[in-house]
Amino acid sequence: MREPYRTSTITFRVDPQVPEPRPIALAGEAIRAGGLVAFPTETVYGLGANALDSAAVEKIFRAKSRPANDPLIVHIADLSQLPGLAVSVSELAYRLLERFAPGALTLVLNKREAVPANLTAGMDTVAVRMPDHPVALALINAAGLPIAAPSANRFSRPSPTTAQHVADDLKGRVDIILDGGPTGIGLESTILSLVGEAPQVLRPGGVSLEELRAIVPDLTYQPQYLADEAAAASSPGSMLKHYSPRATVVLFRGDDDLAVWAAMRAFADEHDHVGAMTLEREASRFADLDVTVESLGADLDAAAARLFSALRSLDSRGLKWILARAPDSSGLGLAIGDRLLRAAEGDVIDVKPRR
Ligand code: TXA
Ligand code: MG
Repeated sequence: MREPYRTSTITFRVDPQVPEPRPIALAGEAIRAGGLVAFPTETVYGLGANALDSAAVEKIFRAKSRPANDPLIVHIADLSQLPGLAVSVSELAYRLLERFAPGALTLVLNKREAVPANLTAGMDTVAVRMPDHPVALALINAAGLPIAAPSANRFSRPSPTTAQHVADDLKGRVDIILDGGPTGIGLESTILSLVGEAPQVLRPGGVSLEELRAIVPDLTYQPQYLADEAAAASSPGSMLKHYSPRATVVLFRGDDDLAVWAAMRAFADEHDHVGAMTLEREASRFADLDVTVESLGADLDAAAARLFSALRSLDSRGLKWILARAPDSSGLGLAIGDRLLRAAEGDVIDVKPRR
């Protein structure tokens, strides 16, 4: 593993709606100079560098301790930046961008030569998105460059949804952190590949499959969870073990509420140092047990926004077990379930309905 990138970190608070020009100008300058800037997007915080500078891109991998076979997403602020990154962009791609840019949709396209090979992990495709966040857009505009940015977490930690999460993972490894408060969606973008035979979702995320299907009726999604690192290398993002908390995450799945709660309660009863992530209305189910409960809020939107923060919080409390329930897979539930399954490394308990 290469040496981590080391630097001193400055954090600037910025107004998430109307970012102050001075910190944005300084951050844009840092990007132009080949440095690293962490910034909020509507999904999660990103760790940014000049996408067209392979030395700057290399710093991202070193700061995150990210394996070189995991390609980065390039962020743009204007569609005029797209032709500098991708070639043979289809009419479908433009229709999708018209509907979802700016927004939580990343498109995988054929890359232009100018995009450095380390950014795309040697592949001839490039992932591009336009974030829907005033701070991200202002930063890209100030830099005057497309910005490469993975999520701003240490490799195999949950994605950061606050500037504090970024600092916890990357203090001393990023030049500037722009603190624009908590991110809105809380889960990463949906990745849609347009380079294969049919449009294919590679990662469910902030834009639901239902929304995408309105424009791409023939899109496919085949969840891939590869436990084997060698096999996963040729298929970026498919590694099963993605977030690996110190605690063991156990995922409960089933349609019968009472049966699922009973199974979770039984597990909690039989084990020590148990935490649970639940919707607000389910939290009371554990009130009489010795379980540390982290509420995910009232509904799926709230759960998405709080999921990573809840994982980090529970994992910092020295628990042995974190119990969670898989949501049904409509809307944001698909992406939440995907992240939970990875956090659980596939450790799922299927609960049969009671009669
Ligand atoms: O919401 C998001 O997408 C956030 C914010 C910061 O924009 N970014 C993010 O990046 O989640 P990251 O690095 O954590 O995830 C990037 C993933 C890679 O792991 C890989 O799965 C996929 O994007 N990817 C990037 N380039 C690709 C390519 N050329 N082909 C296929 N997948 C690609
Ligand atoms: Mg990530």
